[in-house]
Amino acid sequence: MDKEKIKEKKITFQAPRGMHDILPADEPYWERIENAAKQLARTYGFGRIETPILEFADLYKKTAGEESDVVEKEMYVLKTKGGDVLALRPEYTAGVSRAYLEHAMSRMGQPQRLSYFGPLFRHERPQLGRYREFTQLGFEVLGGVNDAIYDAEVITIAWDLLSELKIKNPLIKINSIGCRVCRPIYKKQLQNYYRNHERELCEDCGRRLKNNPLKLFDCKNAQCQPFKEKAPNFLDKLCSMCTTHFKEVLEYLEEVGIPYEVDHRLVRGLDYYNRTVFEMFADGKEEELGALPAGGRYDYLMEMIGGHLTPAVGFAAGVERLIMVMKAKEIVPNGNRLQKRVFLTHAGDTAKKKAFLLLRDLRKAGIAVSEALAKESLNAQLRAADKEGIGLALILGQKEIYEKSVIIRDLKTGLQESVLLDKIVEEIKKRLK
Ligand code: HAM
Repeated sequence: MDKEKIKEKKITFQAPRGMHDILPADEPYWERIENAAKQLARTYGFGRIETPILEFADLYKKTAGEESDVVEKEMYVLKTKGGDVLALRPEYTAGVSRAYLEHAMSRMGQPQRLSYFGPLFRHERPQLGRYREFTQLGFEVLGGVNDAIYDAEVITIAWDLLSELKIKNPLIKINSIGCRVCRPIYKKQLQNYYRNHERELCEDCGRRLKNNPLKLFDCKNAQCQPFKEKAPNFLDKLCSMCTTHFKEVLEYLEEVGIPYEVDHRLVRGLDYYNRTVFEMFADGKEEELGALPAGGRYDYLMEMIGGHLTPAVGFAAGVERLIMVMKAKEIVPNGNRLQKRVFLTHAGDTAKKKAFLLLRDLRKAGIAVSEALAKESLNAQLRAADKEGIGLALILGQKEIYEKSVIIRDLKTGLQESVLLDKIVEEIKKRLK
């Protein structure tokens, strides 16, 4: 629609449902979380990977599963002019695995440790902590041998991330969903158990019972809850290899003092998992907000997309949810950018030109400076500094130009002193420390 028509009809635009603007007020949270993730990636030896936002839709159908909510209900799919069917990525793990195969990373040092941070899209029903565009940070360990120590490593990173963000006492739910050997046997038992209750289940669960009985545990419908209680426990049916693997994961966690709660009904929504699955929740926010970091092992995923069996394990956390928890718990991200800024003011026309030059010199020296040089009155400029919440002002007037100096004023105490221009960078850095 052209501009005139928009004007006529007074159409106002809003961000699409479930999608958000990120405004400067939230910047300290984003910065804090991204820095924490970067720092963990550095100390644990993870390299950054970014994959395209669009991938072939089939990549997700083959990995997350045709019947997973993500693929069946939530994918944004588009057909290109060339006829390709692409999807806005609903998750990272499949794309990262595709990149591992495409770049023959199995020939590089094993395992490959890769981390990411970026936007995802799922056409979900928007609700608290659930958006249509959201951001994940994640860590994946791909290749090498299938050792429980890697499962414990990624859970430790997720734990460290929450500690680093001061999200205390998170709850870790963990389970094992077995392998190709033990899972089919368990699925049969589960189907036999649920068959007796088939008529009492919701419509979705009726379908799940036939095609993907493990998903019965995922249902939130009230009518299906009572049957979960008495359902057979997968952990009793794991094969000996899976039992040993799970036991080892738990032992490693105990070794480093990370508490967990085994939940034999935890199954996760994506089909590619085997053995370890886990979800972490903020203290008391389990039902309300859903999982923060969540993930697990996915040894069969590479096979699903044409590669060899490749051990892999990882997790991802929703950044918006982390921010919601930080705000709810009144965790203030440190490094308040306003405390690290100065405000440059001028008094008079000649001073305005010199202030423009000084502004450039200060910024070149790495100092963050705000200004309202377009305002002529000094008071108006100081009011602008106050509005921004900046505590330190520099004042450049005729006298200062003549003396090659500048006034530094502490806007809270009103105390001020004159400093020579060639000492100003040093002095500001000292005061902002
Ligand atoms: P997921 O459970 O689908 O797993 O998502 C992981 C996390 O992303 C969730 O625990 C939550 O914090 C956040 N999240 C998911 N959906 C939304 C949404 N609609 N709005 C806001 N936040 C959301 C995966 O995506 C797997 N790829 C994780 C993984 C990595 N497994 C192995 N490696």
